[in-house]
Amino acid sequence: MSEEAHNSPFTGEVKDGLKTTVLGSSLLFYESVDSTSRVARELAKEGAIEGTVVFADEQTEGRGREGRSWFSSPGSVQLSIILRPDTSPSKVHMVTLMTGVAVAKTIRHYGIDARIKWPNDITIGGKKVCGILSEMGVLRDSLDYIILGIGVNVNVDMGSYLKELKETATSLKAELGRDIPRIEFIQSLLWELEYQYKLFERHDLTTISNEWKALSDTLGSWVKITTQKEMLEGEAIEINRDGGLVVKLKDGSLRTIFTGDCTHCRGIGIEDGESDR
Ligand code: BTN
Repeated sequence: MSEEAHNSPFTGEVKDGLKTTVLGSSLLFYESVDSTSRVARELAKEGAIEGTVVFADEQTEGRGREGRSWFSSPGSVQLSIILRPDTSPSKVHMVTLMTGVAVAKTIRHYGIDARIKWPNDITIGGKKVCGILSEMGVLRDSLDYIILGIGVNVNVDMGSYLKELKETATSLKAELGRDIPRIEFIQSLLWELEYQYKLFERHDLTTISNEWKALSDTLGSWVKITTQKEMLEGEAIEINRDGGLVVKLKDGSLRTIFTGDCTHCRGIGIEDGESDR
């Protein structure tokens, strides 16, 4: 069965023992679909309720940030969540940050030192284990919905990966040396995410950014940031109240960036010592 959602044992098991009140209010599972975020967006446009989660075992056209594609390996978890917060489009990057905190905390329950690489990669020992894509729908200048797409390398066998990819990506299985129950992982992730979302809805952005800072792999690093308009380099010194990354440039001036790609460099100003972390 493909391209067709159904009430599988999977959704039943996720629902069973789920401690959330909003996230997971409706669950849809696909064995194979182009992109859970594409499906979630369609559902959101049709008025699907907040907290709807779309899962897939396989995505044939998974989407990543900056128009890149996202490959879903067997054993990974991919899901997209519909949120409808009462906030302005300018606050959406905070939802991305809070999602990073929730994913990192979920992984840390397994005794793994998961960290957040700005803006939204979750890394272990500098290798990417999860990608987050947040997209929004706007109606007459107001936020209609956010689609939070999360892909985590959970029970992924890294043995089959190319050498270059193994140097930059990892999985929970590779870190722990064993599989973990995916249902339990998803329930825990939705719970952590709901906790962060409640903070966001209460406008407690300080708690979210403090948690983000404590888990950050980026703050204090020399970074190279590429945005659609420019490339800049400097020390990542702060995340501000609005979720912007404050970078101190070589000339001492400060710049605040909200979206872009970030590369961690090994030494201050050493360009050829980069690691794509
Ligand atoms: C990134 O580029 O790091 C973000 C990757 C986001 C991938 C997830 S998997 C579930 C959801 N569906 C998609 O098509 N993309 C997101």
